[in-house]
Amino acid sequence: MMRIAHVSDLHVLSPAGVEWRRILFNKRITGHVNLVMRRSRVYRREYLRMVLAQAAARADQVVVTGDITNLSLESEYIAARALLDDVARTAEVTVVPGNHDVYLPAIFRERDFVRHFDPFLQSDLPELARDLEAGRYPCVKLRGPVALIALTSAVPRPPFVSAGVLGREQLAALEAVLAHPEVARRTPVLLIHHPPVDHRPRVVRLRDGLVDATAFGRSVAGLARGLVLYGHIHERERRVLPTPAGGLDVVSASGGALDDPRASVRAGFNLYDIDDDGTIASVQAWMVDESGTAVTRAAIVDRRRS
Ligand SMILES: [Fe+2]
Repeated sequence: MMRIAHVSDLHVLSPAGVEWRRILFNKRITGHVNLVMRRSRVYRREYLRMVLAQAAARADQVVVTGDITNLSLESEYIAARALLDDVARTAEVTVVPGNHDVYLPAIFRERDFVRHFDPFLQSDLPELARDLEAGRYPCVKLRGPVALIALTSAVPRPPFVSAGVLGREQLAALEAVLAHPEVARRTPVLLIHHPPVDHRPRVVRLRDGLVDATAFGRSVAGLARGLVLYGHIHERERRVLPTPAGGLDVVSASGGALDDPRASVRAGFNLYDIDDDGTIASVQAWMVDESGTAVTRAAIVDRRRS
C-alpha cells in the first residue's frame, strides 16, 4: 500500500524587511499587498509546522499543491525550502506552483520556483516534459502502484486576478505522459493548484479558476480512475470528474497554516491510501486541534453529487 499526504497553500510569509519596502514602493500592487497582509493574519507558522511534521510522519509521499510562498519573495522561498527539507528527511516531496508563487512577473522570469524547489521536481520521464515558464512540466514520478504527475497552472496575472492556465502545450505533454506504458499501468495522481472541477459562474472562473478546465477534462478523458489533487480554494472538498471510462476523484486540501474554526477549512492535510493493485482505498483528512499541538480528524465537504 502507498500512502500520500496532501498539503496546500502554505503561504509562507516573509519576515518584514527590505523586500517589503521594495514592493510597497511599487504603487501598482500596493492595494494587492494590503489585501494579502489582512488575509495573512489567519496564517499561523506553528500550525504549518505541525501539519508538515504530521504529514511527513504518516506518509511515503508528501505532495504540495501550490501557493507555497505568499508573495514569491526570496526570503519566503528560503523559509519554505527549509520547512520542506525537514519533510524530505522522512518522505519524498513533490511540489507544484500556485499563483502566489509567481506573484511578481519580474521574479517569475527568474524562475525562482525551479531554483529553490528543484530537488522536489526530478522527473522519471524528463523527455516528456516541456520547458514552460514555471519550469519543466509535467514532472512524473513512478512510485509503486502510483504515477505522480505534477502540472503547473501558475501564470503571472494582473492584481486581483488569480486564475490559472495549463496551456495547450502542457496538455499535449500530459496526454503523452498518460499514454506512456509505465504511467498507463499505474493509478495516476495529478497535482494542480487551481480547481479542475468548478461550478462557479464563468466570470468568477475566469478571474479565479482554471481557465482551461474543459480542455483538461478532455486530456484525461481516457482515464478510468485516478486522483486529481488541488488547492487554491482553502477548503477541503471532494468532487468527481466523470470520464467515459469511469471517473477521477478530485480532492482539495485546505491552507496548511490556516486558523479557522470550520472543520473543512482549519489547517490540516489529506491522506490517500492506494493499494498495491492501484485501487484508491481511502481518502481522509486531519487538522490541527485548538491546542495547536495535536491533530484530529477533519471534514472534507462532499460535493460528488452536486
Ligand atoms: Fe492560489
